[in-house]
Amino acid sequence: MSKLFRHATVVTLSTQEGWSIISDGAIWVNDDHIQWVGKDSSIPLSAAYDSEEDLEGAVVTPGLIDCHTHLIYGGDRTEEFEERLKGVSYAEIAHGGGGILSTVRATRASSSEVLLESAKKRLLSLMQEGITTIEIKSGYGLSLDSEATCLRVARQLAIELPVSVRTTCLAAHTIAPEFSGEGGGDSYVEAVCHWLPLLDAEGLLDAVDGFCEEIAFNRQQIRRIFSTAQRLGIPVKLHAEQLSNQHGAELAAEFGALSCDHLEYLDTAGIKAIAKSGTVAVLLPSAFYAIREKQCPPVSDLRAAGVPIALATDHNPGTSPCLSPLLIMNMACILFRMTPEEALRGMTVNAARALGLSDRGKIVTGSRADLAIWPLDHPRELAYGIGQHPQCRLIVGGKEVSL
Ligand code: NIG
Ligand code: FE
Repeated sequence: MSKLFRHATVVTLSTQEGWSIISDGAIWVNDDHIQWVGKDSSIPLSAAYDSEEDLEGAVVTPGLIDCHTHLIYGGDRTEEFEERLKGVSYAEIAHGGGGILSTVRATRASSSEVLLESAKKRLLSLMQEGITTIEIKSGYGLSLDSEATCLRVARQLAIELPVSVRTTCLAAHTIAPEFSGEGGGDSYVEAVCHWLPLLDAEGLLDAVDGFCEEIAFNRQQIRRIFSTAQRLGIPVKLHAEQLSNQHGAELAAEFGALSCDHLEYLDTAGIKAIAKSGTVAVLLPSAFYAIREKQCPPVSDLRAAGVPIALATDHNPGTSPCLSPLLIMNMACILFRMTPEEALRGMTVNAARALGLSDRGKIVTGSRADLAIWPLDHPRELAYGIGQHPQCRLIVGGKEVSL
């Protein structure tokens, strides 16, 4: 497709700060990339396109990027939801063999067809709110076969739907049931280190993640996983300082992690470390909300240290059954005191960086033509509404998709 979109409110995010809006702007999309963007009044005379469309002032943003999800799983956690409402904590449920492990049981009992169909429905909901790129983690299989199945389902989603998928292996999510008991954590980590090259050889890994927490893995165990990933040349990320400060962020920074995610308990040393390593802080407001966490991530200190902040749904059946990127942006503003502009950057340019992608997240010449067209007057409305579901149109890789 070669098409010119005219008379749009183009939110380019092309500079370090500010919306960088081109009012009465135009975007020339050529094949899968943006050929030119600028004022409608200065469209180059040489521009050659097959069709043009007047957007009548509609807001155009980069397609949204959900850089942290656990989209593939069986079952649900509604019983746990009721338990937690009665006052049982997330950690107590995990210690009792519920939580992540209950989803592992349900995932292992599901066929890949069932996993694919359920994940597809969730992904369609996310796309209806502007998502054009998504990261999907494994982590509910916890055996070589079951982790591979979940990662293959993630790859299949990108074949069946017009969306980019990045896959992350989170086998280090919790200790697999087969390894419970004394020393089981270390043995399980050793097993995961044997699986990673096999999963990588099948082309299933864009990144490797871990859960560094008292109820999951300690720093030494995460170090072994990260060292294996590093030997394979796979970038790493970490669920860090979600429920307590385990100093996982410093460890992740040592390995040049793409991102550290959650971060409610991140301290000054952790901020300094990730600022130095250029690691993105991925904040997950709906997980914070759903477990009724009281401690906010240190947003103003991250900002002051120049750490890029991304946002994501963290969609998972336990702590974040959320399928609304726009609600995430609203929560980031209300709960974490981010600005609407920071919220949009968090789901576009900074989210791209958290996935190691430099070809998207902004509307600039040469970038991938992933665009969301919104029936709004100003981009701040994206973070303002609660459950308003503005009907967006999506251009993915230069093609308009119907949802
Ligand atoms: O990102 N923190 C660990 N993992 C998920 C929750 C997984 C679950 O409870 O099933 C998260 O919040
Ligand atoms: Fe997560």
